[in-house]
Parts: sequence; structure tokens; C-alpha cells
Amino acid sequence: MTPDKTLMRPRRHFKRGLALAAATVLAVPIAAAVTAQSAGAATTTLRGLAEAQNRYFGTALTDGDLNISGEMNIANVQFDMVTPGNEMKWDTTESRQNSFNFGPGDQIVSWAKSHNARVRGHNLVWHSQLPGWVNSLPGSQVKAAMENHITTEATHYKGQLYAWDVVNEPFNEDGSLRQDVFYNNDGGSAYIADALRTAHAADPGAKLYLNDYNIEGQNAKSNGMYNLVSSLKSQGVPIDGVGLESHFIAGQVPSSLQANMQRFADLGLDVAITELDDRIQLPTNNSNLQQQANDYAAVTKACLNVTRCVGISQWGVDDGHSWIPGTFPGYGAATMYDNNYQPKPAYNSTVNTLGGSNPPPPPPTGGEVHAVGAGKCLDVPNSSTTGGTQLQINTCSGGSNQIFSHTSSNALTVYSGSTQMCLDANAKGTTNGTKAIIWTCNGQTNQQWNVNSNGTITSVLSGLCLDVTGASTANGALVELWACNGGSNQQWTIS
Ligand code: XIL
Repeated sequence: MTPDKTLMRPRRHFKRGLALAAATVLAVPIAAAVTAQSAGAATTTLRGLAEAQNRYFGTALTDGDLNISGEMNIANVQFDMVTPGNEMKWDTTESRQNSFNFGPGDQIVSWAKSHNARVRGHNLVWHSQLPGWVNSLPGSQVKAAMENHITTEATHYKGQLYAWDVVNEPFNEDGSLRQDVFYNNDGGSAYIADALRTAHAADPGAKLYLNDYNIEGQNAKSNGMYNLVSSLKSQGVPIDGVGLESHFIAGQVPSSLQANMQRFADLGLDVAITELDDRIQLPTNNSNLQQQANDYAAVTKACLNVTRCVGISQWGVDDGHSWIPGTFPGYGAATMYDNNYQPKPAYNSTVNTLGGSNPPPPPPTGGEVHAVGAGKCLDVPNSSTTGGTQLQINTCSGGSNQIFSHTSSNALTVYSGSTQMCLDANAKGTTNGTKAIIWTCNGQTNQQWNVNSNGTITSVLSGLCLDVTGASTANGALVELWACNGGSNQQWTIS
């Protein structure tokens, strides 16, 4: 245990200055790349390309997302349709009977207005995110409460929304209707026609949808939806479209997606991909990211091939804020943007399918990891591939034991193929002096690293900084984790 590391570290103002200068130089290409993307927005963005095909490309945003600049830098440019992630649901808008709160939803509408985007209202009637008081009502009062909720909310947003998901997720997997409080107290399936008519009366301009998951391919559940909407159409009930949520698992996009959308279109309905994501069983690797890219392309192509497919919305902006890891443990990386807001292969494949050309590749995130204070490189001693080997600094050589890649899941990998290893905080350590070692890549948080714009590399698990022990500049000095202190022995540049 080192007694007092700060005493052992002479302040090197000169070198620290160099480190900052290096960090500034490093920042330039990234800023330039962002500007280039914005400049070409009309033709190279998802929304620009979709608009050229008479479609939209949307996202879901929560009010929280509106304050996260990394997300908004993307959303402000890429998307022309927004679905509020939670803000128009019943538990937000009428948490107590007849006490309405449209403030959160209004913020999403306001973002849309200022970014020339449209809004998919989501949703009016759903068994989930439903306040307890609805389920506790005497059965005889449910129909009136539902109609009042729909009328009040749809009237508030009248004229401001492109569409409403009027009833969300009404089906069981076997194609029967879910026996929720509405079904049970408003005439069985009749509650759906009631909801649609009520919404139409309040906002005749909004397209009215039924929205559900696992109805993307042809199966018992989508047959149930097909039979229902056929019957609604034939009775003259106001219904305009069917939303296919499309929460896919990588490699499992149904091959019948296009044919299924077409059969709904043939009934005279619009169809939309309303909540697209494509979750990967973690950790990510080149092959599952490529599979995901193929999946996004397949979904996009299917929509373009069906004239009445009006657009695609991704559920969220980036992997770092997606609902997937919280809901499907072990899965993640479901969107087109990684944890560092960089476009993934799925973004490129979607752009290509929409008729765009490959965007400029993201700035390189791999290379030598320069220890700025020492003028040396992060190095695996003797090119070892033995798990547990502590990293050191050594004269930069360009050898494969000094070339690291920062992946979309925040790993810092060294080597490739079957010998690939990951930078790892030894034994999940979170204390000063924890050894920085190589270990078989396993995606755990002690193998996740933030490469920060201030030149530090920090452990996602502990927040500690990657640190050259004792601020040594000698070959063979060991690398560990230490509380971030601004020292030049905690400054790194990757190039
Ligand atoms: C999700 C939200 O993203 C989460 O924040 C919330 O906790 C649960 O709901 N189908 C839908 C969406 O129709 O409303 C859901 O959104 C995801 C599944």
C-alpha cells in the first residue's frame, strides 16, 4: 500500500499543459465530424432520407431525455417524429380521477414544434401504467371514466398530433383480447370501438391506431389483430392504422414482416413500425452487431416496400438510455447509437437502405494509449495473454500488445480473435491501488471504461482513474486505478 501518493507526484505543470493541449488537438476531429454531419443533414440524416421516400423516421423521448445533450444532439438532427416515452400515459395524465396533468406531454410537443417534427400520441387506453384508481372503480363506472379520459386528453392535444395509439397492447399471445378492466366492464371487445369513436369525436384530425407487440409476423396474435381491424373497418368504426411495436431480438426479425404489413394495408389501413429496437444478448461483438445491422436494414426495407407503411420510430435514441437493459436483463445495445452516442453498424445499414450513402466513419477510437505524463504507451508485458497480467507503460512500439480499441459497450480490448483480452479492474476492485489487468472479455462493469474528454480513462464500476503508479515515467511502471486527481500520470490519449 502506498502511503501518500500525492507526495510522490511532483507537480508537472509543463507536462500537464502538454496533456491539455493534446486533449484539445484530439477533440478537433470529433467536433469536425459532428459539424459535417449537421451540415449535410438534409440528405444524410434518417429523417432527410425518410422524407425523400415520403416517410418519417422517429424516436421516443421522455422529458428526462430532453435534458441530455448527447441524446438531443442526435434527436435534433435525425428524427422528424416523436413519441413521448411515458408522458401521455394514463398514470401521468390522470393519476387521480379527473385531475389532469398535461405538462410533461406538452414539453414533448414543444420539442417537436421547435424541431419541425410531428408527434405520435401514446397512448389513451392501456392495461399498463394505469393508475390504481381505474382498476378499483365499480365496474359500472369504467366506461364513463375511459371515455372521459380519452375525451379530455385528446381534446387537450387536438390538432397537435399526427396520430394516437388509442388502444395499446389489447391482445394476448393467442390472439384473444386481454381481459383487462376495460374489456371486462365495457362490453368485451366493444370497448375498442367505443375508444376509437370517442377519440375521433375529440380530435377528428388525428390518425387513430391500435398498437401491439409480437404482431410483426404472421401468427396467432397478428391474426387476432387482423380479424379485429377487418371487423372495425366493415362496421365503419374510425380506425386509420395498426402499429407494430417491433421490439425484436437480434436475428429474430420475422420473415413474414412485409407480407404481414401488406395484408393490413390491403384492408385500407396505414401501418407503422412504432417502437423499433433490436436487443442483443450481451456482450456485443462484431458478429451480433452485424446481425443487428442486417435486422435494421430488413425492417427498413419491408417498410419501404409497403406503400402504406408511413414510417419507422425507434424506441429511444441510444443504447445508454434505452429501456431494454432494465426490462430484459442480460440484453442491451438495442438501438442504432452506442453508449458514446456513436452510430453503430445498424445506423449505417439503415441509412443505406433508405437510399443514403455510407456516412463518414466515426472518428477512430482505437490505437496506442499514450501515457501523457511519461511519454510512453500502455503495454501488456511480454505480449502476455494470461488473464491477471498487470499492465505497464513501455516505449511506444505500435505492437499489438499496445493497440487497444474502445468498443461500443465501453470495453478496452487488446489483441483480436480468440486471444482478445479486455482491460479489467482486478477482482472488481474499487479502491486505490486496484491493479489494471488483462482478463477474458466478459462485458462486466469492471471491464467498462469511459474515455473522457478531459484526458482521463475512468472505470465505470468505481469512477477511479487509470493511473501510472507513483507517476513513474520508467519502462515497466505498473498501471493501476487511483482516485482522479488531475495528475499527468492519469492523462491518456488514444491515437
Ligand atoms: C416503456 C417505457 O419506455 C419505459 O420507460 C416504461 O417504464 C415502460 O414502458 N410497449 C409500449 C411502450 O407501448 O409504452 C413501453 O414503454 C415499451 C413497450
